[in-house]
Amino acid sequence: MTLFPEMIEAGIKCGITGKAINKGIIELEAVNIRDYTNERKHLKVDDYIYGGGAGLLMQAQPIWDCYLDILKRIRKDRERQAANGLTANSHGNGKPVRVIYMTPQAEVLTQSKVTELAGEEELIILCGHYEGVDERVLEEIVTDNISIGDYVLTGGELPAMVLIDAVSRFVPGVLHNSESAETDSFQNGLLEYPQYSRPEIWNGKRVPGVLLAGDHEKVDEWRLDQSLKRTRERRPELYEAYVEKHREKREEM
Ligand code: ADE
Repeated sequence: MTLFPEMIEAGIKCGITGKAINKGIIELEAVNIRDYTNERKHLKVDDYIYGGGAGLLMQAQPIWDCYLDILKRIRKDRERQAANGLTANSHGNGKPVRVIYMTPQAEVLTQSKVTELAGEEELIILCGHYEGVDERVLEEIVTDNISIGDYVLTGGELPAMVLIDAVSRFVPGVLHNSESAETDSFQNGLLEYPQYSRPEIWNGKRVPGVLLAGDHEKVDEWRLDQSLKRTRERRPELYEAYVEKHREKREEM
């Protein structure tokens, strides 16, 4: 749900996510909230803020009606899939649809939240604009508030694209090599190790010898070492959490 559907489509319909859409592995619909406003003269979707304050607020009505329409279409889709014996999950047609509001007033997105959301059949994402959204409609529909970082953007569209991209990578068939989503930075709580391609020597710099010798065990050891070193240097708080987790695991054994 957005005021700028072209922005979402331009961002997501390119590259790997675009290919996944063309192949029918994921579906994306950028729904224009403005199409649902009852103020048909100027198609207004925002108004002044009660109690004063700068700027305008997105009103509840267009968002609520937009949401109801999307929900109706999702339910119809589920019925059609069930009739064709294609229902992918065991929850049938009654499973609530998660509605995510992109907002800086929330917990910051993590890889574990991304993998959790990738398990859903459908996601509805609300992109805010102006000074925000009337709280009452948020209370009615939002199940998850998500921030992409402690900084403020002009709208929720870029954050929504970040979320869609990150979640899509975990949908089977979106990435060529299903291994690459699993060996990513963060998947094991560490940053990824450095990688090299041809040529063996570039600008006088050699590819580390261990990667050329063909001993897979040694390669794995080297990569873990590099991951640990990089995480300690660049993200000490992640490193501490990793060390703590592995200490607990050893104590359990
Ligand atoms: N909208 C504006 N800034 C945002 C952020 N950092 N994360 C999510 N949504 C936002």
